[in-house]
Amino acid sequence: MGLGRSAGAPVRWGIVSTADINRKVIPGAHSSPKVELVGVASRDRGRAEAYARTWEIPRAYGSYEELLADPGVDAVYISLPNTLHCEWSIRAVEAGKHVLCEKPLSRHPEEVEQAFDAADRAGRLLSEAFMYRHNPQTKRLVELVAGGAVGELRLIRSTFSYSLYDAENIRLRTDVEGGALMDVGCYCVSASRFLAGEPERLYGQAWLGETGTDWVFAGTMRFPGDILAMFDCGTALPERDELEAIGSEGSLFLDDPWHCNQPLIELRRGGEVERIEVEPKDSYRLELENLSDAIRGEAELLLGREDALAQARALGALHRSARSGEPVLL
Ligand SMILES: NC(=O)c1ccc[n+]([C@@H]2O[C@H](COP(=O)([O-])OP(=O)(O)OC[C@H]3O[C@@H](n4cnc5c(N)ncnc54)[C@H](OP(=O)(O)O)[C@@H]3O)[C@@H](O)[C@H]2O)c1
Repeated sequence: MGLGRSAGAPVRWGIVSTADINRKVIPGAHSSPKVELVGVASRDRGRAEAYARTWEIPRAYGSYEELLADPGVDAVYISLPNTLHCEWSIRAVEAGKHVLCEKPLSRHPEEVEQAFDAADRAGRLLSEAFMYRHNPQTKRLVELVAGGAVGELRLIRSTFSYSLYDAENIRLRTDVEGGALMDVGCYCVSASRFLAGEPERLYGQAWLGETGTDWVFAGTMRFPGDILAMFDCGTALPERDELEAIGSEGSLFLDDPWHCNQPLIELRRGGEVERIEVEPKDSYRLELENLSDAIRGEAELLLGREDALAQARALGALHRSARSGEPVLL
């Protein structure tokens, strides 16, 4: 793809919003030789300026439009609430920027199509920021499953939950499509899909809390080859995160599958447990570097249209199923 700048120069990144999640992404941006973090935008100029000072970012913009109009920015990281993801991805690619947009891009497949169509028209890259997919632990898990470590894959079990009771938080707001499925269940859906392909039959049940979002969600999915997956997630549950790929002869268990802070895969087979160590890596830095490399034509984009679209289809189906009480066939 190329940048039209000198070979070896880092990709110049801007951040759209002063979101809380940025604090996990900025250290990776600052430490990577492939990334130059040049600016941050907020709806409020004062907030952008204070944020830029705190995080040692050279430029501050008083609107997202101002950042997108800066020719000195090659790519943007969008960390807006869920309902703004596709809209601002489209605005960014139309302004000539490559985009890394926070997960979940959307649960509306048609919006995802529109965003990727806009990116293709503009000749820009768009990627959904599922950071755990960039971590070596995830790659190792899939290699182990594909290599037959657990025999024939039959069942995937996953969970991601925490507790939060702040009605102002975007996760508990229906107007920005918050909720447990969108915030954390999406990881369980993503990992199940990565291991088993695309789900054909999905069933979800939600408990809606007093803010109207799903505070607890449980889902099942049936994949080709009769592989089954079940997951639960919640914003009103204790902190839990697990992923287990269970086969005919054993299982692979991850105690930290999403944050990957302490990567370790347990192979449980024949009454024995083998601990498979994986080197810890900063997933946020890896996702920035993947898009930066892809922009330069030096790597394939790990997560593009196909994955984001299938993910939106699955999330939309689970959401509909929980509301209708009926399974959804895809
Ligand atoms: N990959 C991960 O590990 C991870 C972790 C956490 C969150 N996330 C994702 O990142 C996104 C942001 O989450 P967050 O918890 O960081 O959000 P947050 O702290 O609430 O920040 C959202 C930002 O969006 C901007 N914004 C624009 N319109 C808004 C509106 N109508 N309501 C609220 N904020 C608005 C605000 O920035 P300005 O005021 O500066 O304009 C705000 O700071 C979500 O999509 C979430 O799923 C990903």
